Amino acid sequence: MRVLFVCLGNICRSPTAHGVFVSRLQQRGLEGRVEVDSAGTSNWHIGKPPDPRTVAVAAARGVDLSPLRARQVSAGDFDRFDYILAMDQHNLADLQALAPVDYRGHLGLLLAFDSQASLLEVPDPYYGGEEGFEQVVSLIEAASDALLDQIAARLPPEAG
Ligand code: 4NP
Repeated sequence: MRVLFVCLGNICRSPTAHGVFVSRLQQRGLEGRVEVDSAGTSNWHIGKPPDPRTVAVAAARGVDLSPLRARQVSAGDFDRFDYILAMDQHNLADLQALAPVDYRGHLGLLLAFDSQASLLEVPDPYYGGEEGFEQVVSLIEAASDALLDQIAARLPPEAG
């Protein structure tokens, strides 16, 4: 099973989702059974580490984003990923324009997995203050738990 998180720059929201989801998989002993990646719809920050404000709020919640580097989403991602999850409607529209007509995976919004979520989109925190970054990680943590419940239920039984 492979999961790709996508935002605009791949330096704030999708790296947060990437790191939070890997950490949740580790907590449930499922790392190695689900491959996780993140990407941006833009080419603006390719090769760059996540924004230092993003790294700081994630670190305060025990998630290390420092090894991640930004990349741009490509059409080939639709051949690899079973779930491609956008942070906002603009990201989703860009992905829908790139998706092959016969894509069989799940392309949608991350927050749609959280039935309790107050928002459907993860707001872009880039030009705002510290509280925006806190809101991003909180929204993503809640939705990641709901997403992981669904994915864990779909994993085949372990061999042996
Ligand atoms: P992200 O945030 O899409 O969550 O990574 C942004 C990062 C950079 C820019 C916009 C949003 N930017 O305008 O450079």
